[in-house]
Amino acid sequence: MLAAEALEGLALEAGGYYVDATFGRGGHTALLLQAVGREGCVLAIDRDPQAIAAGRARFADEMRLTLVHASFADLGTLVPAHAHDRACRGVLFDLGVSSPQLDDPQRGFSFRADGPLDMRMDPTRGEPVAAWLARASVDEIRQVIATFGEERFARRVAQAIVAGRRQRPLTRTGELAELVAAAVRTREPGKHPATRTFQALRMFINDELGQLERGLSGALERLGPGGRLAVISFHSLEDRTVKQFLQRESQVDPALKHLPVVPASARPRLKLIGRKRRATAAEVQKNPRARSALLRVAERLA
Ligand SMILES: C[S@@+](CC[C@H](N)C(=O)[O-])C[C@H]1O[C@@H](n2cnc3c(N)ncnc32)[C@H](O)[C@@H]1O
Repeated sequence: MLAAEALEGLALEAGGYYVDATFGRGGHTALLLQAVGREGCVLAIDRDPQAIAAGRARFADEMRLTLVHASFADLGTLVPAHAHDRACRGVLFDLGVSSPQLDDPQRGFSFRADGPLDMRMDPTRGEPVAAWLARASVDEIRQVIATFGEERFARRVAQAIVAGRRQRPLTRTGELAELVAAAVRTREPGKHPATRTFQALRMFINDELGQLERGLSGALERLGPGGRLAVISFHSLEDRTVKQFLQRESQVDPALKHLPVVPASARPRLKLIGRKRRATAAEVQKNPRARSALLRVAERLA
């Protein structure tokens, strides 16, 4: 199981202080709490208020857990605010959307079940994707769908959306899924034709890659020496961001590496631990969403 490997990658120590940057429904947090023992503690973060509410109910009696409704983009300030001077021994990211988010049509992530076209992980901030789609130009929509969905037919999809909204406002996931299905010409086996467009709009409206960049930097700033970073990503764009970040931080700054004495600020801050790992076939069979999941682990250098 990738979750078990991620926890193993964190090299958990009893009494340690750990951060679950993506609480979800607390599956990983529960495992972290088990491993840290009575003296350890966990800071768990989620930007989804429903996740936090469910977590407060599930872990009502858990004094070792601090649950915070926030974005992991703010890890740099969240960790010192809650750590009470304890060194952070590990940060875990399990990226993407949770099953409860995907399965609830009211959240607007699903192209299979009709619901309001929202897609925000944190509905208390920003705007639903419907509001953006109502005013964006063909070119802006095309660019988002091409960049974050790697959709070959991005222009056709964007044109179909703009033509569709002239007839009536686009407010439902079902309407969007139909428009896209009519515009996308080729069918990828086992994939709904709107998969790429929905992924792209979700990533855009939640600024997922921007938040990830900030979250990784914040984690790196706050990890104590020897602390571990474990990241599970769910698609290639996320993994590319993680991979590039880890590569950059695990080598000497290329601009300064020719100096006779490399300044401390240019030295690597991370050491890669092992190779990237994929979900096992058995895991994918149980949870098809894990088919493109990848785990990367690194350790904070002194
Ligand atoms: C795949 S789920 C995590 C599942 C979790 N590991 C568990 O065991 O239940 C991803 C979670 O990360 C949250 N999330 C995504 N982006 C986030 C961000 N920038 N800041 C905080 N939470 C985020 C989502 O709201 C979602 O609940």
